[in-house]
Amino acid sequence: MTSPVPDRTQVAIIGAGPAGLMLSHLLRLRGVESVVLESRPRERVETRQRAGILEHGTVEALREVGAAARMDEQGLPHDGFELRFSGRSVRVDMQELTGHHVMIWAQTEVTKDLIALRLEQGEPLLFEAEVTAVEDVETDTPLVRYRHEGAEHVVRADVVVGADGSYGPARRAIPDRLGRRFERVYPYSWLGILADVAPSSHELIYARGRTGFALASMRSPSVTRAYIQVPNGTDAADWDDEAIWDELAARFALDDGSFTLERGPITDKSVTPMRSVVSEPMRHGRLFLAGDAAHIVPPTGAKGLNLAVADVRVLAEALAEWFATKDETLIDAYSDTALRRVWRASHFSWTMTTMLHVDPDGDPFDEQLALAHLHHIEVSEPARRALAENYRGLALGAI
Ligand code: FAD
Ligand code: DHB
Repeated sequence: MTSPVPDRTQVAIIGAGPAGLMLSHLLRLRGVESVVLESRPRERVETRQRAGILEHGTVEALREVGAAARMDEQGLPHDGFELRFSGRSVRVDMQELTGHHVMIWAQTEVTKDLIALRLEQGEPLLFEAEVTAVEDVETDTPLVRYRHEGAEHVVRADVVVGADGSYGPARRAIPDRLGRRFERVYPYSWLGILADVAPSSHELIYARGRTGFALASMRSPSVTRAYIQVPNGTDAADWDDEAIWDELAARFALDDGSFTLERGPITDKSVTPMRSVVSEPMRHGRLFLAGDAAHIVPPTGAKGLNLAVADVRVLAEALAEWFATKDETLIDAYSDTALRRVWRASHFSWTMTTMLHVDPDGDPFDEQLALAHLHHIEVSEPARRALAENYRGLALGAI
């Protein structure tokens, strides 16, 4: 049976998440062919509720590839965000402190636009194509095996990119003895909701409430996105809507009584565990890893999607240079270059997470350290600037 996409290409990309899709577009602009294979149906990829904040660099990448029209029209630029603790509030003015803002634009919308553009261009992108093996990565002709509509197929390539998320098969093609894996599991999870009600605040609120973390975000002027810290193992079905709103209201409450939480019908509920993972190196032979396939951060700080896009911006440049000149300098530097940003973001996400969550196994000493950190941010402009710089993301090449 013939393959539904070319069986020979320059770059075989596994996964049509933000990393794989963005890479395919950046490569095309640089004259490099690719095939994208995705195990899930298109509809599933386009509706998975995940990240919501785009750094400036991610916004720029969407503009570069021509997938930014809806974001530029409907996305919500945010100049700052709020921290709440001990019944009071501190605003971090990113625009003033760093000269940049971030964009509220959901991952669902990012993937919809990247997919639509790829299909419009007639470029190879296949859904329900599950990669089962990545082979020969130590040779010049690595290959990817996949299953589609009950049949087995093969794509041979010059390079394979594993952009297949945290459970994909690509990472397993790197022998354990060649790499290191770092992991931190946090003792709490997030219960996330979507609700048909206008956001209660025009900016995001990250709160350390007495009983735990809460985050007020949004998807549009009429849709609220919010999260609360819950114990690991929580079943979303155990939380009824009123209990969620009551807990959010308690965690966001200000001592002067000036905050009111708007409530509305909850349309989606899910629980996400919090963990941090880094797998090094991000390359073995002709196999390169990008995004969640190589690293995961806890969501406090909104770095996951932005790291995935930063990886492929570096990788696209490196691969284009190598295909054009056979000069290996940039591809050889890819893993180290990407990992510097990954570790910066891992540290930032750890800082935000531990500062804002209540550790169920912690003691009063931990509590005071977290409050001392928040208080420093409240009184010190340099502390706020450091936070803002990490939140809006360092420019490519600055780290
Ligand atoms: P993914 O988006 O995971 O894409 C990988 C793709 O590979 C998937 O489409 C998958 O189906 C496909 N794939 C896997 N195996 C195979 C195979 N064998 N063959 C073919 N295809 C395969 N980040 C934030 O910043 N804020 C958040 O609030 C937030 N919430 C999150 C909630 C959840 C439940 C999860 C899982 C992640 C969340 N993240 C969040 C992180 C962010 O969504 C990810 O960092 C981002 O999706 C990474 O993009 P990626 O392209 O690397 O991986
Ligand atoms: C969202 C998620 C985050 O992890 C975050 O830090 C900010 C916003 C969101 O889904 O809107």
